[in-house]
Amino acid sequence: MKKADTNLKVLVIHGPNLNLLGTREPDKYGTDTLDDINTRLTELGKKLGLEVDTFQSNHEGDIVEKIQCAAGEHNGVIINPAAYTHTSIAIRDALLVLEIPIIEIHLSNIYKREAFRHKSMVADVAEGQISGFGPAGYTMALEAMARMVNGL
Ligand code: DQA
Repeated sequence: MKKADTNLKVLVIHGPNLNLLGTREPDKYGTDTLDDINTRLTELGKKLGLEVDTFQSNHEGDIVEKIQCAAGEHNGVIINPAAYTHTSIAIRDALLVLEIPIIEIHLSNIYKREAFRHKSMVADVAEGQISGFGPAGYTMALEAMARMVNGL
């Protein structure tokens, strides 16, 4: 983890199919694109004194490797594992190794949807979960992360 006297860095990970935001099931996920969300996070990060790195992949192993790299690089991780939320022990295990705060985020309220979405493999590994507030959930997550990495 980076020391407090250097820039605080937060990694935001977007899982599979989130590259299609804007056109993918807008009734569930809204009309903002992933670029819109990432740009907003980067701008908010500047105001909060956080450097925000963003990463999207449709591949489980790539997400695992990115999480592994976060251990020495970042002070916190915000992750929307998308469909892997419900299936991936590999992503769960990678997150378990991290000794930095983790926030799980979902655009939709996974508990109002199909039963198979009610189970999250990462929920009990995260400090907290934000679910159901659409793209605004990401800015909520970053604000919560700012408090955590600053020990507030
Ligand atoms: C999602 C919810 C998941 O169940 C789904 O597979 C996604 C997106 C969300 O952000 O609401 O891809 O993580």
